[in-house]
Amino acid sequence: MDRTAQLTARVTGRGIVYDPLSTAPSAASLHVRAARVLAANWTGTSTVPSRHLYPHQWSWDSAFIAIGLRHLSPLRAQTELETLLTAQWGDGRVPHIVFSPSVPLDAYFPSPDFWRSSTAGWAAGAPRTVQTSGIVQPPVHALAAWLVHRADPGLSWARGFLARVYPRLAAWHRYLLRRRDLGGGGLVSVVHPWEQGMDNSPCWDGPLARVSPAPTRSFRRADLDHGAPEDRPTDLDYGRYVRLAADYRDGGYADGEGEFTVEDPSFNALLIASEHALARIAAELGTPGTARHARAERLTAALVERLWDDASGMFLCRDLRGGMIRERSVSGLVPLLLPGLPREVSGALLATLRGPHFAARTGLVPSYDLRGPAFEPNRYWRGPAWFNTAWLVERGLRAHGEKAAADALRTAFLHAAGGSGFAEYVDPDTGEACGAPGFGWTAALTLDLLHDMDGAMETGEEGGDRG
Ligand code: SER
Repeated sequence: MDRTAQLTARVTGRGIVYDPLSTAPSAASLHVRAARVLAANWTGTSTVPSRHLYPHQWSWDSAFIAIGLRHLSPLRAQTELETLLTAQWGDGRVPHIVFSPSVPLDAYFPSPDFWRSSTAGWAAGAPRTVQTSGIVQPPVHALAAWLVHRADPGLSWARGFLARVYPRLAAWHRYLLRRRDLGGGGLVSVVHPWEQGMDNSPCWDGPLARVSPAPTRSFRRADLDHGAPEDRPTDLDYGRYVRLAADYRDGGYADGEGEFTVEDPSFNALLIASEHALARIAAELGTPGTARHARAERLTAALVERLWDDASGMFLCRDLRGGMIRERSVSGLVPLLLPGLPREVSGALLATLRGPHFAARTGLVPSYDLRGPAFEPNRYWRGPAWFNTAWLVERGLRAHGEKAAADALRTAFLHAAGGSGFAEYVDPDTGEACGAPGFGWTAALTLDLLHDMDGAMETGEEGGDRG
């Protein structure tokens, strides 16, 4: 750790705790340290989220990592996305994990022999040459591709980057829109908590309670070899994750309404932002993007109609079997990213962000309601603050002209990321590091906030709220 960071952190029994009152580490030292994390996690064709806990390529991690990598090496950023998209299935899905053949099978669970993509996924068009999981993760990729292109248009044109990724990104969105509108209301559903990305959120407790867990002795978790048990999901949670994934696999990864089918605000908001990005990519390639912008607007209307909750002042998840899930999670704040929200919706989101459920002492955004009955400050997605969601909310604040609030969140992010050693997540009140150290998207998004001050995401058609 460098001297500036030493001034801002103290070491406790659990690791590094960031001190919110001390001065921020210098931008130059943060840049160097974040770049070192990304260099250490780079495999030659992609970036692992964490050398020990997550030793393969993860889908939404790679999208966030590419967004940061574009400031270090636009070529690596393009390669990151191209490697992921090479593992796309024939039906258009982009798998949530692309397995590295050089990593031992027991280093991560569930391993390729659990998913059996090339056999169980045969009918859905799983690739033959690479092993993958069979579920998906949030579609941040078109947004990432657009931002990566904009970082170095010359290199992008020279390599034909957009022309190569566009058809794959279009097929990915087509898969989601055609195969995953399981509720019939125009929104995409996730069929596993790992698909939504916030695996262990209290939002899933209700729908998961219907799932009979696989017996603990039928699988061996690898995450506890590297993560503290109090920071990770419980064995009961894992039993249910395994059951859901095994049932999906045994059904040949065919989509339909299963035990767990949820419409989630963050997943859908990221699809909308990416659909706008895809429209811009199409226009750059010489095809009008108007139809895509219009589709994104229809999705935004469906998001508000189906998931907005006036009483909570935020979006909620909808369980297709059980109805609205009355838990407040950061997922319900992520749609702030969309400039095209009705003005009363964005105004209420801003108030909720500043209110008692989400205003944490570090200035970061907790993953779950600080006052919620299931709140735990250290446990995976049940309260800790994560850096990808802070980045999305920061970009959302900027999109809505909330410069002072965006600047404050940016400062809190950089301070906590540097002070925690680029932790996977932190306690939202103390900044205590949790999960894996040297985490890919924490380092990458640190670089993005250091280098992209205006945050021009272009996640709407023209920008600006609707009155
Ligand atoms: N995030 C999950 C894990 O903890 C699966 O993608 O392994």
